[in-house]
Amino acid sequence: MLKIDIHSHILPPEWPNLAEKYGDARFPVMVNAGGHHRIYRDNKFFREVWQNSFDHEFRIEECGKLGVDVQVISTVPVLFSYWAKPNQARELHRHLNAHTAEICRRHPRHYAGIGTVPLQSPRLAIEELEHCIEQLGLQGVQIGSHVNDWNLDAPELFPFFEAAADLGAAILVHPWDMMGKESMPKYWLPWLVGMPAEQSRAACCLIFGGVLERLPSLRIAFAHGGGAFPFTIGRIEHGYRMRPDLVATDNARAPREYFKRLFFDSCVHDPQALRYLLDVVGGDRVMLGTDYPFPLGEQRPGSVIDALKLEPRQCERIFHGAALEWLGLPKQRFTTTAAEVQ
Ligand code: CO
Repeated sequence: MLKIDIHSHILPPEWPNLAEKYGDARFPVMVNAGGHHRIYRDNKFFREVWQNSFDHEFRIEECGKLGVDVQVISTVPVLFSYWAKPNQARELHRHLNAHTAEICRRHPRHYAGIGTVPLQSPRLAIEELEHCIEQLGLQGVQIGSHVNDWNLDAPELFPFFEAAADLGAAILVHPWDMMGKESMPKYWLPWLVGMPAEQSRAACCLIFGGVLERLPSLRIAFAHGGGAFPFTIGRIEHGYRMRPDLVATDNARAPREYFKRLFFDSCVHDPQALRYLLDVVGGDRVMLGTDYPFPLGEQRPGSVIDALKLEPRQCERIFHGAALEWLGLPKQRFTTTAAEVQ
């Protein structure tokens, strides 16, 4: 069965050293350490990355062993750089998007790509989105769960979502710049506690802010199974009904009704949690997503899905049907036996 992993991150083997160029140490810098690379940010070590982060040929081999046919590749959120001057951020995004597109061109059966845009400038973000879709042939873009002081309902961001809907671009919401990180630096809590909260913040803002209501054709997906959002939907819906004066100020439709319009990845690390997700958001809304190649990702892609022993039709939907719909691609894109374009 065709398996498409919609949540996988990739880095170019190198990118411009903007920290040096613009004298701003907040730009991440990659240093080749022989066999692996080290990323520095603010002149401090941030993360070590290995061959599977930047070697697309190696990844195809590894995916073959893991039973994944297609990866939808996106950048690593540390590179969003929404805090930067828009033109400087766009320079980085341009480079990352060109790299993503080149891999997809060379291996169209193994990769589909979603780009990245400088959302701190909605005008430049729309330009870059158009470039991604119309020039580079990417399927959409990955965005952060908020943009500096803007949540995703910010009126400034609406033209961007409108453009995405018009272009038929798929959007993946990924947590980043986690809330509360300064007050909970230990135990990896920004990742374990902050990330699920970020996803709920993003979903609530898109719903309560009326973005989804006004853009019914927008195809939007949430990484990490939507984080805390699906699990706390009862509380969110209850809040909406009990205090509409606080919650329903900008959109009159109940939040639960939007599940049928959203997509979620399967990266929840627990069969019971996945069972719940399927029950609550709908069996046709969930797609395989692993967060490859990182340690917090699903190490055996699809193992939690397999544990549920679902009907073949439902497996098909999770392993590729929903992803094709979200991406707006025909299945043939990944099943043709034609020689790959080199
Ligand atoms: Co991720």
